[in-house]
Amino acid sequence: MSANILDLARPELREITPYTPGEYESGFIRMNANESPYQNIGDNSERGLNIYPPPRPLTLQKCLAEHYYIEEKEILMTRGSSEAIDILIRGFCTASKDSIVICSPTFDMYRLYANIQNVNIHEVPLLRNKNLDQDFQLDSDAIIGLINSGAKMVFLCTPNNPTGGSMQREDIKKICNAARGRSLVIIDEAYSEFSSQDNYRAIQKNNEYVVCLRTLSKFVSLAGVRCGAVIAAPKIIKFLEKVLPPYTFPTPSIELVLKAFQKDSLKVSEKRNNTIIKQREILRSEIAKIPTIDKVWPSDSNFFLIKTNKLNKLISAAKKTGVLIRSFENQPMLKNCARISVNTPENNDIFLNGLYAELSKREVI
Ligand SMILES: Cc1ncc(COP(=O)(O)O)c(C=O)c1O
Repeated sequence: MSANILDLARPELREITPYTPGEYESGFIRMNANESPYQNIGDNSERGLNIYPPPRPLTLQKCLAEHYYIEEKEILMTRGSSEAIDILIRGFCTASKDSIVICSPTFDMYRLYANIQNVNIHEVPLLRNKNLDQDFQLDSDAIIGLINSGAKMVFLCTPNNPTGGSMQREDIKKICNAARGRSLVIIDEAYSEFSSQDNYRAIQKNNEYVVCLRTLSKFVSLAGVRCGAVIAAPKIIKFLEKVLPPYTFPTPSIELVLKAFQKDSLKVSEKRNNTIIKQREILRSEIAKIPTIDKVWPSDSNFFLIKTNKLNKLISAAKKTGVLIRSFENQPMLKNCARISVNTPENNDIFLNGLYAELSKREVI
């Protein structure tokens, strides 16, 4: 048991001296940071891209803290939530010594960053159930067993990518309770805006061993901006600030996200999300009518998973209509499965009509 959450952090990083950035004060001529005094002719930014971005995007953190109903000291902006996964693993896991738990099939970047840091991975496969509503759920007993035997970090993804559904809240609660004082539980909520379930802030707020990850890549349509957020106890945020180098968050991204969170813009995003949720259900039910589709799993995300014993034919039929879908042949539990991301109503129609046309040409896919 560790009385202090930072006892779990890499000992050599706990006392690391952070970089001291050059002073920034508007209205002053800057001769302190080796920057160019000239704004590039293609530069339309407000701040000027000749000037380094702020060491941390504090205005943006304030804006997002308000959006997530948390305090500023509980949030750290990262370049996508992918970078958050990276700094959590690098900050807390000692190479060749510590281990993490992942619940496969799940988002593959947990494995990738653990491999980069040379951290051991315990894979706890999701539990199967014939009832698709209860399929791909957490094996909480096995996960708690690994927490009790010293796993440093557990990654839970809900709604899960690529299976699409949410994990049962009771399982996540049990795991978070067991982890208190022992391990960090990272709840990756990349798709929570598409889910009918509550997010995990309430649980994270009352348990400093729980960290939530959010991203702007999906619900505000800003994957190209690379903006993610760690939501955690202030102690963890302060520690991660030391692991994340300064100046990582680019000026154009800051300015774009601030615009995206203005009321009118956010309203448009919310409306589009509702369309995506409705379209997801239409697509799921239409695809389920295709005779060679064996399974269409429920989804709380902006995508869903299907199974067909004619996977290659389905993929090539989709491609002929100009649509790419993704298979997961390398994941043993996902043989013959494909993940379909929901698009605009127009493109979803093109996809469906194209599939029907291909189908009738060949009779069966
Ligand atoms: C579950 C999950 N987490 C995190 C990410 C990373 O998102 P980003 O780095 O774009 O914020 C993704 C991307 O698809 C994802 O599916």
